[in-house]
Amino acid sequence: MADRPIGVFDSGVGGLTVLRALRSALPDERFIYLGDTARLPYGTKSGETVTRYAEQAARVLVGRGIKLLVVACNTASSVALGHLAAVFAPLPVIGVIEPGAAAACGASVSGQIGVIATEGTVRGGAYERAIRAVRPAAEVVSIACQLFVALAEEGWVSGPVAEAVAQRYLANVVGERPALDCLVLGCTHFPVLRQAIAAAVGPRVRLVDSAETTAEVVVECLLRSDLRAGHRTRGQDGAGQAGVRFLATDAPARFARVGAVFLGEAIAPEDVELVDL
Ligand code: DGL
Repeated sequence: MADRPIGVFDSGVGGLTVLRALRSALPDERFIYLGDTARLPYGTKSGETVTRYAEQAARVLVGRGIKLLVVACNTASSVALGHLAAVFAPLPVIGVIEPGAAAACGASVSGQIGVIATEGTVRGGAYERAIRAVRPAAEVVSIACQLFVALAEEGWVSGPVAEAVAQRYLANVVGERPALDCLVLGCTHFPVLRQAIAAAVGPRVRLVDSAETTAEVVVECLLRSDLRAGHRTRGQDGAGQAGVRFLATDAPARFARVGAVFLGEAIAPEDVELVDL
């Protein structure tokens, strides 16, 4: 069981920022990453639809024999985590909302915390609940920044357009709340826009994302369940690039090209398998 891969799922390539943190925390593990590129974005869809899509994606990964599922998509984590955990029990299912909330509570001194995310994540209020569960007196303001997803997908992650959009979404929010000192990047696509977001909110606001804290939760879960893989010799395990197999529901070549920005390294198009859910 311990030698099985970890499944990671997102609506597209954004979750590769989470995969990156997972690989660095767990170099001996193998991963299967599924990006539901055919149906992105999830952030504008209803909770029912996202839950259905998330279950279908998870089923493909479960069919490939994963030992643990990471829901790297914030929107899917916020609406479908409980459903996935119930449907696929006893498989451990880990989302990104609680780790992101824990990172925010650790980073904020004032307790005034901003969350930027997709429309679906903001509508569901999962970040507010997770933050208040850790820090009941926290004041949380959530802002839907859906255009950031398109900018990141287009590769316009810095420069005047990204900066203007970030200003438009964020300048007032921060200007009206002088004590706000922490902003959660509550969407897989936002870490690549970090520079433009930081320029819009100014130096007093710390930016946190859930990638590293999610990786810590996964490490703890593997240790607790005695599921850590033994030492792996790279290239001898049948997985693609450094222990990762990539699956996409549409346009594998685009997945490889855009995904490289999120993963921080090149992805060979032939390493991306087209799958149908
Ligand atoms: N993966 C989604 C999230 O983290 C962002 C992209 C989308 O809207 O599907 O919320």
